[in-house]
Amino acid sequence: MTIRAVVRSIGHYLPERVVPNSEFEETLDTSHEWIVSRSGIHQRHFAAKNETTSDLAIHAANRALAAAGMVADDLDAIIVATSTADLTFPSAATMVQNGLGMTRGFAYDVQAVCAGFVFALSTANAQIVSGQAKRVMVIGAETFSRIMDWQDRTTCVLFGDGAGALILEAQDGTGDKSDRGILSVDLNSDGRHRDILYVDGGVSTQTTGYLRMQGKEVFRHAVEKLAATAQTAMDHAKITSDEVDWVVPHQANIRIIQGTAKKMGVPDERVVKTVQNHGNTSAASIPLALSVAVSEGKIQPGHVVVTEAIGGGLAWGAVVLRW
Ligand code: ACO
Repeated sequence: MTIRAVVRSIGHYLPERVVPNSEFEETLDTSHEWIVSRSGIHQRHFAAKNETTSDLAIHAANRALAAAGMVADDLDAIIVATSTADLTFPSAATMVQNGLGMTRGFAYDVQAVCAGFVFALSTANAQIVSGQAKRVMVIGAETFSRIMDWQDRTTCVLFGDGAGALILEAQDGTGDKSDRGILSVDLNSDGRHRDILYVDGGVSTQTTGYLRMQGKEVFRHAVEKLAATAQTAMDHAKITSDEVDWVVPHQANIRIIQGTAKKMGVPDERVVKTVQNHGNTSAASIPLALSVAVSEGKIQPGHVVVTEAIGGGLAWGAVVLRW
């Protein structure tokens, strides 16, 4: 018998304030047409001044708990993937734990930037299959609006804020690909590329810093590395592209999303896209996209879902799961 980490429920939260591309036209030399043609983004959500990453995460977490008919103390662990935690410490995850009224178990953050949710899913899966935890909530939550340089038109038009939360639960499986739950994981990083996407500040430099990116360089790595990691994960799970019901990619840029799906041999109609409405929400983008796809009735129990993401580091990876 094999233990599988099976999705029990999902929920998401987007801050109230919607920012259309036209808002950037007022302060920057840019246009709605340029932003749409280069990124596919039409709008994004920005957190209110007093709204923090853990606030967004708590909203999403409560929705996931409600969808599962569970209370917070039913969970053994909370993992928050974020690069924009409220404070240097404690972790956003312990703030979420407190906000949910959870008084048992353990909570911690994972930081792999835009690939954070995939890395956190991998960690949660490992803790479930090893028997360390039975129910783990995995959250991706970000307030990237706080690390934007509003004078830099090449970056500030691309990102948004939001949160998504998914509950994984241990269930018995047979060990083959017909099982529900996480079927395979592939993780990678290569710190030689740390300079093409980074924030130029942090605790040790005594500044918060702003996101800096060599867009063309990131683009060049993204499609190739995402298609390769997705293929590796699919090979491990013995899943072919014909068997994939949905690709749910990190939502950075429509051209990266479509280029990667093409390389994977998965037709466009089986690719979930939310980048047009959310922008790039870093670690929150995959759980947001999963949650939207579930609420629209696209992803159904039994469907094979492939997620893939790349971000600063570079760090990248993919997860294959049966919903
Ligand atoms: N509005 C108008 N013009 C702009 C803007 C803007 N917002 N931003 C840049 N430009 C200009 C540039 O200054 C440049 O002008 P120049 O030729 O006079 O120098 C011109 O548009 C073309 O710029 P490029 O950088 O060559 O544009 P490109 O087609 O590469 O698109 C983009 C830029 C969208 C950033 C693209 O490189 C990209 O998508 N890269 C991937 C990066 C990404 O998605 N990162 C997200 C974070 S990483 C991740 O999550 C995977």
